[in-house]
Amino acid sequence: MTTTSYPLRPFLPADAMALRELFAASIEELCQEDYDEDQRAAWASAAADADAFMKRLASALTLVVHDEGEHLGFANLKDNQTIDMLYVHPFYAGEGVGTALCAALETLAAARGTEAISVDASDTAQIFFEKRGYVPMRRNSIPIDDQWLSNTTMTKQLKPVSAKATP
Ligand code: ACO
Repeated sequence: MTTTSYPLRPFLPADAMALRELFAASIEELCQEDYDEDQRAAWASAAADADAFMKRLASALTLVVHDEGEHLGFANLKDNQTIDMLYVHPFYAGEGVGTALCAALETLAAARGTEAISVDASDTAQIFFEKRGYVPMRRNSIPIDDQWLSNTTMTKQLKPVSAKATP
């Protein structure tokens, strides 16, 4: 199991441009085996509107891994119970960045009283989430522009966080 620790911090508006590029590069390079060129282009087009992308990041709990001037990955949690986005820069894939981001969102969700967390996992990310204990619930087919993209809704039960007694 990958257990590297990475510096995590909340999203700032100044991250937006770098995260748009990371999002597109992650889809283009890491999802080639699961989605064809047209599907990847349709998926990546979610970042074409800079304002809408910024709002999507700012309206959720978004965490960023930023180290030595580089954005390594980002993820966000919507409504304290859904992982909306999880993207790692292709240069840093397979080095525990996704694990660090996902573990942090699960911990924050549990601390806020969430009992189960869910994600619509890309086919590329499904094994990653299975390894973290997420269970597939249903397959989805999502229309984006003139393309259809498959993903899988997965859920994980979270361990309750016990409140420590204060003196
Ligand atoms: N296929 C199979 N296993 C994988 C994959 C994969 N594509 N990605 C990670 N794993 C496994 C690793 O081998 C590792 O296994 P181990 O614990 O036995 O060593 C474990 O999952 C953890 O790997 P990490 O290094 O923490 O994962 P990484 O940092 O590469 O992030 C992620 C995984 C987020 C899926 C990344 O590959 C990515 O950004 N993919 C492209 C974008 C994408 O599909 N994102 C998810 C979209 S769905 C959504 O956003 C809700």
